[in-house]
Parts: sequence; C-alpha cells; structure tokens
Amino acid sequence: MRILGIESSCDECAAAVVEDGRRILSNVVMTQIPLHQRYQGVVPEVASRAHTEWIMGVAEKALSDAGFQPDDIDGVAATAKPGLIGSLVVGLSFAKAFAWARKLPFKGINHMLAHLYAPQLVERVDYPFIGLLVSGGHTIICRADDFDTIEVMGTTIDDAAGEAFDKVAKHYGFGYPGGLAIDQLAEKGDPRAFKFPLPSLHKGEHRYDVSYSGLKTAVIHHLSSYQRPGAAMTPENIAASFRKAAIDTLLSRLYRTVADTGITTVVAGGGVAANSYLRRELEARVDLRVLFPPLALCGDNAAMVAGLAWHYFQRGETDNWDIVPNSRVSDFKWRPQK
Ligand code: KG4
Ligand code: ZN
Repeated sequence: MRILGIESSCDECAAAVVEDGRRILSNVVMTQIPLHQRYQGVVPEVASRAHTEWIMGVAEKALSDAGFQPDDIDGVAATAKPGLIGSLVVGLSFAKAFAWARKLPFKGINHMLAHLYAPQLVERVDYPFIGLLVSGGHTIICRADDFDTIEVMGTTIDDAAGEAFDKVAKHYGFGYPGGLAIDQLAEKGDPRAFKFPLPSLHKGEHRYDVSYSGLKTAVIHHLSSYQRPGAAMTPENIAASFRKAAIDTLLSRLYRTVADTGITTVVAGGGVAANSYLRRELEARVDLRVLFPPLALCGDNAAMVAGLAWHYFQRGETDNWDIVPNSRVSDFKWRPQK
C-alpha cells in the first residue's frame, strides 16, 4: 500500500510516499528556517502562510520523486495534532482534499507518535519499549505498548528540552535554530567549564519529570557563579556545559524509568534526538538496546507520518472528513497507576 504523508505542524513543509509502512519512496522536507531566522523563533502566522504557498509544490515533488502520478496513491495521511493550529490546518486540509477527490482512505496522525515511529522506518523493534520524545514543543518519557498505545510516565514541568536549547542560544546569539547551534559549539568546548545545577530527582508522582527553568536561569542570568576556577568564558564552553546539564537531566529520568519498569529497549525521537552528546551517551550503554532515527528522520518529516498511517490502515482504521486539527496532544494516557 502506497501512502502519501503530509506534515505541516510547525516550520517544516513536508510530503513523502512510503510503501507498506517501511519503504521510503520519496521524502521531501522544505524548511522555513530562513523565514523565521530574523525573529529567532517560529512566527505562527508566517509559518501558516508559507505552508499555504508551498504545500502543493512539496506534495507534487514527493509524487514525482517516487515516480508516481496522483492515481498511484492508495491512502493519505497528515499530521492532525499537536502543533501550530494554522499550520496544521493547511496540511490536513490539503491531504483530506487529495484523498476525498480520489476516494482514498484517510488518517489524521499524532505528530508525537509519528516521531516515535521514525526509527522503525529503518529498523524493527518489539513492544514494549521506553520512548524518549524530545522536540521543540514536547518532552515525554513514556512506555509504548503499541504504535498507538503509550503511557506518559514523565514530562517537563516547564520548558521542553528543545525549547531550553533554543532560548539559551537566542540569549547568547549562538545561532538559529538553537539546538543544532549549541550542539556544534559544544563539540569544541569543555563540559566541565561551568558546573550548572541539575534539578533534583523527585519521589512519587513526579519521579520521571524534568524541569529546565532552573538550569535556564543559571545559564542566562548567573553564568559567572557557576564558572570553575581557571575555566574560560567562551561560547564553546558555555554550550558544552549547558548541553551536558540539559541532556544529563533527561538521561537520569530515562534511566530511572528503565530501572523501574525493567524494559531495556529505548526508542528516541524528535529534533533533540539529533543531539550528538545524547546519542553518544545512550549508544555507550551496553545494557540497553537503543534505537535512534537516522539524522534525516529526527526532525519533522512526512515519511514518519506515512509510515505510521499504514499500521492504522492495516487495522481498517480511518478518519472521517470532519476530522479537525488540534494544537494539543489529547489522546495519551498520562501516568501509570501505582
Ligand atoms: O521535532 P522538531 O524538528 O520540531 C518539533 O516538533 O518541535 O524539533 C525541533 C527542536 C528544536 O528545539 C531544535 O533546537 C532541537 O529540536 N534540535 C536539537 C538538535 N537539533 C535540533 N536540540 C539539541 N541538539 C540538536 N542537535
Ligand atoms: Zn516534531
């Protein structure tokens, strides 16, 4: 079954054709980074306007890269949530119209489940596993029992992981988007130059939750208080020390989840899963089976949308034409009952 996937939840306008949930026949991602660079952040109105202008061309390219005509497609899927509402409307409406005109099955997709599915476009993995979903808008540590059944165990109580990277980078003018800019600077810096405070591990209900507000305040407002004697105050050192603190915060909660559940397979997804320190640390754990998406599938893309949709279609699950976008993740099960 050849599925056309559409992704427009934030600042990437993307379309892809994937066969039978795994074989990527085309994968077109047109980024809006240059449009938002001058604002150092995604401007929702600018994003939805660009999606409106680009979506047709991006979808046409995905079809032609796959060597297909529109009538060669057997099913259509688009990101329906979560994301910027104006951006979601564009991709979802386009995809519904494409499917409706050809009487094809249609499925609206949860963007976070699609990120979690991304590594499986390349490698199979058995359930259950622990998912680490880290992007610009979300930080979720979860238990996944199926492609659509996840239980959120930990989340952030303030900023998302990617958001913390973006805010620190914006403050110091390290570059846009911030996560990649900090990661690249950090490779040349000393992670011990600054000893930033890590949020304490809680007991009980919040035991897997992370927080970035304390770290962000320390890095942005009290930098010199955490400088080690003799360490240079360079962008590289700030980036390396911040990156280590931000990622170590995630890892401590993730390892706790692994220890408590006894589940030793970890699947990472989302833009922050591209972080080189995070990848190195997790890949060094011989006691865990760790799956990362290839770098090209870490950020927003439509191959993960088309790939995941196939599993719903296999079950005979489709959506009606009245499906509407939702800016929030609304259908996850939150917190295991202890
Ligand atoms: O998944 P994504 O492309 O879009 C959302 O759904 O949010 O994630 C974007 C986020 C941004 O915050 C970006 O700064 C961060 O992922 N990011 C990184 C890296 N590459 C992208 N964060 C840390 N290290 C990276 N190498
Ligand atoms: Zn994303």
